[in-house]
Formats: sequence, structure tokens, C-alpha cells
Amino acid sequence: MPTIFITGASSGLGKATAKLFAARGWNVIATMRYPEHETELPQLPGIHLLPLDVTDPAQVAQTVQRAIDLHPVDVVFNNAGYGLIGALEATSDEQLTQLLNTNLLGVIRVTKAFLPHLRANRSGRILSTTSMGGFMTFPLCSIYHAAKWAVEGWSESMSFELALHNISIKTISPGGTATDFTGRSLQLAEHAAYAGLLQQLMAAQEGVQFAPRRDYC
Ligand SMILES: NC(=O)c1ccc[n+]([C@@H]2O[C@H](COP(=O)([O-])OP(=O)(O)OC[C@H]3O[C@@H](n4cnc5c(N)ncnc54)[C@H](OP(=O)(O)O)[C@@H]3O)[C@@H](O)[C@H]2O)c1
Repeated sequence: MPTIFITGASSGLGKATAKLFAARGWNVIATMRYPEHETELPQLPGIHLLPLDVTDPAQVAQTVQRAIDLHPVDVVFNNAGYGLIGALEATSDEQLTQLLNTNLLGVIRVTKAFLPHLRANRSGRILSTTSMGGFMTFPLCSIYHAAKWAVEGWSESMSFELALHNISIKTISPGGTATDFTGRSLQLAEHAAYAGLLQQLMAAQEGVQFAPRRDYC
């Protein structure tokens, strides 16, 4: 059976992907920051949980090795990520570095850790969740866009060197989808000088229909 390795599998698109691939008979290595909190996935056949915070380079190395020791990995799905809305002036350095560390460097780090394994197998597929925000922009989302556009450009350039070893790389660019992305996971950075624009942005999003969970579960 082929094997998929997923980051950010505790909720939303990552969890739905874990369930979908397991239902189709794949081995699924579902990684998340707090696997001890996850109660649903361990009950499903074919799913193995491992701990992974993609901002922790030592844990990336350790978890990737543990995954490879379990099964040869065919597909790496870089999915972990979150949103940040706010003017640049409102954003602390910690918010800025944490977002880029997760949404951009996390993708690069996990991919890099798998490359010796995929290259030795002369096969493999790397998928990364970017966003429609990896091709277009919204006001007050500049740091999120910086990360997602960067993953698009990075993936395109990587495709040339990976092709030498029969490894493919693709991005998946969802539009609005009803997950924890717009709730628990979303960070807001507020600043009085941009309050009007933030209000306008929020008002414009009101009533927007996000793709419901049943569309991707
Ligand atoms: N939903 C949308 O409308 C939408 C649209 C475009 C793109 N996307 C992208 O889709 C991807 C998945 O998001 P989602 O919609 O499924 O939202 P979600 O339900 O909030 O899931 C985000 C996942 O990322 C994980 N995560 C966050 N920081 C992490 C870190 N440092 N290390 C490891 N995992 C981390 C979260 O883990 P915890 O449970 O530990 O927080 C969670 O499992 C993201 O890359 C997002 O940018 C979503």
C-alpha cells in the first residue's frame, strides 16, 4: 500500500485528507503538534499519528525518520498553516516570524528532510497547500500572502531539480473552505490607523459562503 505523510492533520483539510486516504486503503502518517489530544484518527485503520511542529527543526528530522522507519513514504503533504489578518504596522515581529516559520519555512524544512529518502527511491510526490492567496491578494493579509506566494515560487523552482530524480511537486490552492482556519486558527493584528479598512474587509466577507465541510470530507 502507498503511504502519505501529512502535516497539520489535527483539523480541517489535513484531517479530512487523512480520513480520505485511509478510507482508500493508504497508509497514513498523520502528524500534528499535539497527537495526545486526537481521539478520532487513532480509531481508523491505517492511520499512524506522530508529533510534529513544523517550526521545530529537530522534531522535523526526528519525525521524518520515524515515518520512514514505519513505511516508505510516497507522498508528502505539506498542509500545516494558519492565517494572519492585520496591517503590517500592527504586526509584531513574533507574529511575522511565526507565520513565515510555519507557512513557508515549515514546508521547505519538511520537504528537505524527505529528499534523501525520495531520491533513493527515485519516486515521490510533494504536495503543499498554498491558497488562492498564493496567486491574488486581499488587503491586510500581506504576511500571509508573502508566505503563500513564496511557496508557489519555491515549488516551481524546485520542480526542475526534483525532476532529475523522478520526484514531482505540486501546490493545492483552495479558496474559502469552512475549517478552523477562519476561527480558532486565525490571528488578528489590530491598529487604529487601519481600523476602517479592517472593518470594510470583515464586512465584505460577511455572508460569503465558504465551501462546507461535506465538500471535502
Ligand atoms: N480553509 C481555508 O479557507 C483555506 C483557504 C486557503 C488555504 N488554506 C490553507 O489550508 C491549510 C490547512 O488549513 P485549514 O483550512 O485546514 O485550517 P485548520 O483547520 O486551522 O488547520 C490548520 C492545521 O495547521 C496546523 N498547524 C498550525 N501551526 C502548525 C505548526 N507550527 N506545526 C504543525 N502544524 C501546525 C494546525 O494544528 P493545531 O491544531 O495544533 O493548531 C492545524 O492542524 C493551511 O495551510 C491554510 O493556509 C485554507
